Amino acid sequence: MHLFRHIALLPILGLAVFTANAETVARVESPGKVLAVELDITEGRLAYRVLRFGEPVIDDSRLGFQLRGAEKLERNLALSSQTTRSHDETWEQPWGESRFVRDHHNELRARFTETIAPNRSFDVLVRVFDDGLGFRYELPEQPNLDEVIIDDELTEFALATPATAWWIPAGEWNRYEYLYDRTPVEQVTQAHTPMTVRTDDGLHIAFHEAALVDYAGMWLRRTEGRRFRAQLAPASEGWKVRRNAPFHTPWRTLQITDSAAALYASSDLILNLNEPNRLGDVSWFEPAKYIGIWWSLHLDTETWATGRKHGATTKNTKRYIDFAAEHGFRGVLVEGWNPGWDGDWFGNGYDFDFTRATPDFDIEALSAYATSKGVRLVGHHETACAVSHYEEQMEAAFAMNARLGIDSVKTGYVCDAGGIERRLDDGTVAREWHDGQWNSNHHQRVLEAAARHKVAINAHEPIKDTGLRRTYPNWVSREGARGMEYAAWGNPTNPPEHETNLVFTRMLSGPMDFTPGILSLQGRGQAIQTTLAKQLALYVVLYCPLQMAADLPENYARHMEAFQFIKDVPADWAETRVLDGEIGDYVTFARKDRNSEDWYLGSLTDEHGRLLQVPLSFLDPGRTYTAQIYRDGDGAHWQDKPFAFAREQREVTSADVLTLKLAAGGGQAIRFVAR
Ligand code: NOJ
Ligand code: CA
Repeated sequence: MHLFRHIALLPILGLAVFTANAETVARVESPGKVLAVELDITEGRLAYRVLRFGEPVIDDSRLGFQLRGAEKLERNLALSSQTTRSHDETWEQPWGESRFVRDHHNELRARFTETIAPNRSFDVLVRVFDDGLGFRYELPEQPNLDEVIIDDELTEFALATPATAWWIPAGEWNRYEYLYDRTPVEQVTQAHTPMTVRTDDGLHIAFHEAALVDYAGMWLRRTEGRRFRAQLAPASEGWKVRRNAPFHTPWRTLQITDSAAALYASSDLILNLNEPNRLGDVSWFEPAKYIGIWWSLHLDTETWATGRKHGATTKNTKRYIDFAAEHGFRGVLVEGWNPGWDGDWFGNGYDFDFTRATPDFDIEALSAYATSKGVRLVGHHETACAVSHYEEQMEAAFAMNARLGIDSVKTGYVCDAGGIERRLDDGTVAREWHDGQWNSNHHQRVLEAAARHKVAINAHEPIKDTGLRRTYPNWVSREGARGMEYAAWGNPTNPPEHETNLVFTRMLSGPMDFTPGILSLQGRGQAIQTTLAKQLALYVVLYCPLQMAADLPENYARHMEAFQFIKDVPADWAETRVLDGEIGDYVTFARKDRNSEDWYLGSLTDEHGRLLQVPLSFLDPGRTYTAQIYRDGDGAHWQDKPFAFAREQREVTSADVLTLKLAAGGGQAIRFVAR
């Protein structure tokens, strides 16, 4: 074991003086020796740092906890043991952006023990990949640490070099539904993760977490300069987390790559840091596309509430089922099918009944009708944050779903952040955060109940994605960002750069139910800031195994040529490549269908038009493909000519280079049919 001695700069009385007492006590390098993580002890205090090719990426950053009723767990620490391990394994996903995922990392486990009473210990477990790393704390069983009440996690992230950040605020009322801000890192206040930065030297770094289980979500609070500290989402009791040792925290993750394209690919490490599938055979979940009684509700031409404008009627639903069957969509989502929507449902979830339909919605007949046509109803459980009320009904609700062949459910938690209602044993109601420890456990209870009935979950107003789909492959999708609904009624609406921001921030964490495909390009009294072709490109760019075709059937009927792409595009992939892109500017994806030899390409841009050269080297060499091209037409522009659109066809091979002409606010979608 080497000991590395470092010169540390310690500010004393405002003056920086050199000390030589920082000691690197443990070190681990990534398999290809790209990244290194070092653990230091300086006068009993523990810190880590991250180097890439020997250059600092994260400067000395503290580790530790502030515990209730106990001394801080961060001083008087000494290394008591360490072990290392290498791991290289390729595992198969039941569904996903790629069929196989490689997990190649080196691991360091270092135990730190207090040198004075009460001599508490904890482990720091680090896994380093060539494109990122994760570390977590493990608190072993020990005499002086039983119940652990965490008031604060003291983990820091001190970015070594100046950078630009793409971020949304954390701890604010609208949960994760903010437009991404692009600022110097020094202007970030408190951010949700994934937070993505690009250093002035061109390094792309994303901060996030993996396997958030029975713990509070981590926000990043900037404390000074480029230094951030973990700020755990609050709990109603006043602390952040309560656990009993032994336990471990979620992984704190850093993805570190040269390019934005590689940053997207590095998200595999989030899945790799999660536990393997616990549900066994999940072949009952079929990745699929769905339509729904949904956009009309956001346009306010129909309502969730019963009455004259009620969308969820038997007759209307039949129309949607017929359309789905005719055009090959497996799912039909119906919102407003159950009692509880009349009056002010927002923040009044106690009226919701999840086992009974409204009188004008014949759920038995409709599910039988759907099944007879090869279609499934998609369930909807809007809780309006009355979460304990929902928990009392969810087992029966999932049982009913299973009986009716409703094998996926969209859940919802509409209320301001911090407004989750948890009924305590004495009947009083406590308010929790969407991303606090209690609600993270709620999501777990939902997943487990749904899995018992072979039901898949797509949560809206969720807790953020931390890769739990690996362990619970019935957690297929979620919202957790500004989706298409903001294009209907948002003020401000989603600007043309929105999706190019999402790809390199929110989408790093996992699938999103963005609900693309509004070919009418029209919201509620406002135009959608897109071209027609860009709506198609979104199907390849924004991964979702339950992918919605969100527009009204009558609008698709008016755009049959473009609609063909939405009908053809799969929702499950064998392989994914980000060919090119930059945060907030543009991106080009190629994905291979999991069930055929066909490839698909999706490219989209922000408010600027772009000319991109795309080598088709991802295609199978020695094969000819028919490229079915859906592109922006001549003169297309999101502002004044959004419908200008062209569909054309040509034969291509892997040796070809395509020139993509993306209009301002535009995009392009291509299906490569293997011959
Ligand atoms: C917000 C969801 O994002 C939206 O899709 C849904 O229609 C409403 N809540 C009602 O549940
Ligand atoms: Ca831009």
